[in-house]
Amino acid sequence: MVNQDTPELGVGLVGYAFMGATHSHAWRTAPRFFDLPLRPRLAALAGRDRTAVRAAAERMGWAAVETDWRALIARDDVQLVDICTPGDTHAEIALAALEAGKHVLCEKPLANSVAEAEAMAAAAEKARERGLRAMVGFSYRRVPAVALARQMVAEGRLGTIRHVRAVYLQDWITDPEFPLTWRLRKERAGSGALGDIGAHIVDLTQFVTGQLITGVSGLTETFVRERPLPQAAAGLSATGGEERGEVTVDDAALFFGRLSGGALASFEATRFASGRKNAMRIEINGSLGSLAFDFESMNELLFHDETLPAREAGFRRILATEPTHPYAGAWWPPGHGLGYDHTFVHQAKDLVEAIAEERDAEPTFADGLRVQRVLAAVEASAADRSVWTPVPGA
Ligand SMILES: NC(=O)c1ccc[n+]([C@@H]2O[C@H](COP(=O)([O-])OP(=O)(O)OC[C@H]3O[C@@H](n4cnc5c(N)ncnc54)[C@H](O)[C@@H]3O)[C@@H](O)[C@H]2O)c1
Repeated sequence: MVNQDTPELGVGLVGYAFMGATHSHAWRTAPRFFDLPLRPRLAALAGRDRTAVRAAAERMGWAAVETDWRALIARDDVQLVDICTPGDTHAEIALAALEAGKHVLCEKPLANSVAEAEAMAAAAEKARERGLRAMVGFSYRRVPAVALARQMVAEGRLGTIRHVRAVYLQDWITDPEFPLTWRLRKERAGSGALGDIGAHIVDLTQFVTGQLITGVSGLTETFVRERPLPQAAAGLSATGGEERGEVTVDDAALFFGRLSGGALASFEATRFASGRKNAMRIEINGSLGSLAFDFESMNELLFHDETLPAREAGFRRILATEPTHPYAGAWWPPGHGLGYDHTFVHQAKDLVEAIAEERDAEPTFADGLRVQRVLAAVEASAADRSVWTPVPGA
């Protein structure tokens, strides 16, 4: 089905662990299910260890390898640089790639600080004049049920939005012996649960409602302050040694805020919700109805239509697998659900289309900066008795 006459888009990817694998799958799969205007070519994969990056490239379908991301950016057969590394590298790689005239897909959160995110958004704006696109990997926007929720809000089915209730619950570090991997170190990750998973519910809230978070009050906590240093760092599953080190990020973050359209919103991001693996949930209540989504049932969107007579109203389950639902028509017959990996395929598809059609690839770096400003406001508030903290520019 892939049309060999379609012009190629050479992709170069940095990092080959968790996100590297999901993005590799996405680049391979997108042109096989969607009729794309450009054909992604898995040109080169960059890592620091030659043997390991070679093995990863072979396994995931990359044509060549580099052991320095600068060499990847310099390659003539790379037109798009895909950044799947920890946050402390995002700004440097993205700025260099845009400068070199490459499109960029950068994993979330956009950066480790507002200053970095501002520099990246400014560079992306400049690069836009040269026809370059820069997108942030807020992949949950691409769940069909979430994209449907946004459509329904935009169509006015919920009326005036009064409440947003968003949580992102995980439990992978409840064991105090879980080692001090990069996600638990501020200098590498920027923040903890807040920037890692809180960033997703901030973006999701702004995406689904079309409103910005204008101010926040926050609380953060680090329950386990020392952990064993990792022996072998293997992403979310690693083993610890004898020596211990300080945890320098939050384990959990709670905050509430106001939206630009007048709604009240509450948020909770934690890695300590025992039994909750990847429970990203959002509920929106409006004057005409409500919507509720839970990633652990990702093919479903619950909708309550307040305009129905009370005797027959109530939440009903929309199975977001119809050809009329966003993205779903490219896949399986109705009811044959999609999974986590599909969101990255949709992300690749949307980016390729935006590049070919010479329009912004959303979420843009400016959207990523808006999220970063909310995260920074939560941190500032939490550090100062949860004082109300406006979000600049919102
Ligand atoms: N969209 C999502 O839902 C989602 C999910 C998980 C992670 N992420 C984001 O993706 C990014 C990566 O997370 P991950 O879970 O894949 O981490 P990971 O630890 O699984 O992988 C990180 C990779 O980056 C490589 N790396 C680190 N520094 C490097 C450097 N200087 N040069 C080259 N390679 C380098 C590592 O070797 C590894 O291959 C983070 O920003 C994270 O927040 C997004």
